[in-house]
Amino acid sequence: MFENIHAAPADPILGLGEAFKSETRANKINLGIGVYKDAKGTTPIMKAVKAAEQRLFDTETTKNYLSIDGVADFNARTQVLLFGEGSDIVKQRRAKTVQSLGGTGALRIAAEFIKRQTKAQNVWISTPTWPNHNAIFNAVGITIREYRYYDAQRKALDWDNLIADLSNAGEGDVVLLHGCCHNPTGIDPTPEQWKQLAEMSAKNGWLPLFDFAYQGLANGLDEDALGLRTFAANHKELLISSSYSKNFGLYNERVGAFTLVAETEEVAATALTQVKSIVRTLYSNPASHGASTVALVLADPELKAQWTGELAEMRNRIKQMRQLFVQLLKEYGAEQDFSFIIEQNGMFSFSGLSAEQVDRLKEEFAIYAVRSGRINVAGITEDNIRYLCESIVKVL
Ligand code: LMR
Repeated sequence: MFENIHAAPADPILGLGEAFKSETRANKINLGIGVYKDAKGTTPIMKAVKAAEQRLFDTETTKNYLSIDGVADFNARTQVLLFGEGSDIVKQRRAKTVQSLGGTGALRIAAEFIKRQTKAQNVWISTPTWPNHNAIFNAVGITIREYRYYDAQRKALDWDNLIADLSNAGEGDVVLLHGCCHNPTGIDPTPEQWKQLAEMSAKNGWLPLFDFAYQGLANGLDEDALGLRTFAANHKELLISSSYSKNFGLYNERVGAFTLVAETEEVAATALTQVKSIVRTLYSNPASHGASTVALVLADPELKAQWTGELAEMRNRIKQMRQLFVQLLKEYGAEQDFSFIIEQNGMFSFSGLSAEQVDRLKEEFAIYAVRSGRINVAGITEDNIRYLCESIVKVL
């Protein structure tokens, strides 16, 4: 039987990481996968995380199973990060959260929940988007509709076409929105645009699904939640996939959360029973270490302050690299104006490089980026930036 199986194509992002590992040139640079690097080019364990892990190690007494929905305190604290201190949704217990295997795991739970428990026929996804969005919804068999998001000419949000496309989204359709740091473009709606979108969504009866994987990487934990909270303020129902891979640097611990908001506590509690039965068939119950670590950091005021400080350092380093990148591209002779990169949020920049230029960067200069032209700005350091800019100018 197996001899008839066709090979699957390499993943456009993770496949790149594998190719990078076997790259032998010493000056290689990885701007592919969205992983943070510090000024030394390493992906460190955050100090607050290390301290919490040590505490866990010293105090943990059992390796018994977690419940299907995971670490209860982690779920409760996730809701506070999402909706803010003192949020009505949290007070009214209209939100229910289950711990998930990273943001991808949360999205898969969301897709299964939509397929099995709602009448939604379509999910509207931005073009471009993170390629796994399409793959996940295809896997569960929900029809994907696209809405335009990026104006390549102006290197900006394609607002008019976004609105034109989404005006075709019908009642009950799922609209997938990137909470902040849109992946791959790094371009987010303005507060006014979020408001307009939320009004349109409420009026037309969409079911919004927020993919919120980069909270804290754009402007701050509360600032980055503005879009989500604008929607939360005037929607009865909402789905959220959130991740601690990036803002806690817990990539390989797979820590994320799926949260649903319903009109009443009772409806939310019933829906949660279905979410739990989805989890049971996918992986039974989640792993403890990463979520317990996050819960510990968020529960301890000192560790939390340390974490938010470290997160701010990450955010600021990325912003500095954006500035220097634009400045050096100019100094090395780029004729195009790259200043739009300074305005983009989070780890990613849609550089405007073509697939051919990205291929040349890899072949001639050992610089790896996604063929869409997305580069991970968090992979740029003071040590590699000159070689990077010089090389980019050569392929332009
Ligand atoms: C990315 O977009 O690079 C990250 O979200 C990692 C991934 O899983 O693709």
